[in-house]
Amino acid sequence: MSEPVQTPQTFPTRIFSGIQPSGGMTLGNYLGALKRFAEIQNKGAETIYCVVDLHAITVWQDPEALRRQTREIAAAFIASGVDPSRSILFNQSQVTAHAELAWLFNCVARIGWMYRMTQFKDKSGKNAENSSLGLLAYPSLMAADILAYKATHVPVGEDQKQHLELTRDIAIKFNHDYKVPFFPVTEPLIEGAATKVMSLRDGSKKMSKSDPSDQSRINLTDDADTIAAKIRKAKTDAEPLPESLDGLKDRPEARNLVNIFAALSGQTPEAVVTEFAGAQFGSFKPRLAELAVEKLAPITAEMNRLMADPGEIDRILGDGANRAAAIAQPILAEAQQIMGLIRSR
Ligand code: TYM
Repeated sequence: MSEPVQTPQTFPTRIFSGIQPSGGMTLGNYLGALKRFAEIQNKGAETIYCVVDLHAITVWQDPEALRRQTREIAAAFIASGVDPSRSILFNQSQVTAHAELAWLFNCVARIGWMYRMTQFKDKSGKNAENSSLGLLAYPSLMAADILAYKATHVPVGEDQKQHLELTRDIAIKFNHDYKVPFFPVTEPLIEGAATKVMSLRDGSKKMSKSDPSDQSRINLTDDADTIAAKIRKAKTDAEPLPESLDGLKDRPEARNLVNIFAALSGQTPEAVVTEFAGAQFGSFKPRLAELAVEKLAPITAEMNRLMADPGEIDRILGDGANRAAAIAQPILAEAQQIMGLIRSR
């Protein structure tokens, strides 16, 4: 056995994350991802954010809808506080290094790793043989997104944890197979009160854009009345809010609303429970609805304003793609060279 290659964690801090343009954005995407992307940018980190259109086409997308959704997600990034002059913001397919590095990783990663992914099992359902090859290889492209920039940290919601473990496995195997400490072993950043926002109808299910019930989620495009109505109708139980978080242990729906309140208001769930101890949901829900509208309405308005000028969004994405490619291309070229592929200069 050869000596395992130790990967020193001496890579400069660089943040990367992405969102799929495969439908509308939910409060889960906002609290678990977008809001945190802006916060991390504002702390001064080097931040690269991507609308992952190549991931979206692993299941069929109507081409016109895909173009609109790509721009809509870009607008959501900006409306949530991602500043395209301080972060790099672009769509994945414009930087060809992602697809090229993904191919290299397809040859490093093992098929068995892909079959084990719970998201593949969920999305392929009973008919796995009939899903696209891209859906199976999805995490390899995700590893390429991250490692094309040698990103050290990736802010995501809890549902992406397994994919990030696979990204780490790919980096470790590449470094080991070619005996070079070339890629960083990326750390997931899964932090805060809203790493897993649950459905408003079922506290055991994630809030998701693909849930058939629109009542289960708050969309970033919902107006104030819709948001208030959805929160009013959200499933809860008959008990008042407890004195401490322990009292929410077996009350997933109640816990979810407390977490949402905490994330929207920038408090801890403990502080929210202390503030509302003994309150009935009849009084808590209107306060939550008010807070949600106060925080989301300006974002929705800004998204709508940006969407009125698609040319400007395309210009921003194009500029971001040029800046992203300037970082990714040399890293790809070096990975190709390490693997023995000839590149003429
Ligand atoms: P996607 O597009 O499904 O979701 C985008 C981000 O939103 C988070 N999220 C949630 N967070 C909390 N509660 C929820 N209910 C909730 N729903 C979604 C997700 O965790 C994610 O952070 N595979 C990724 C996209 C991707 C990517 C990447 C992410 C492709 N390449 C590289 C990071 C780095 C996905 O499908 O996310």
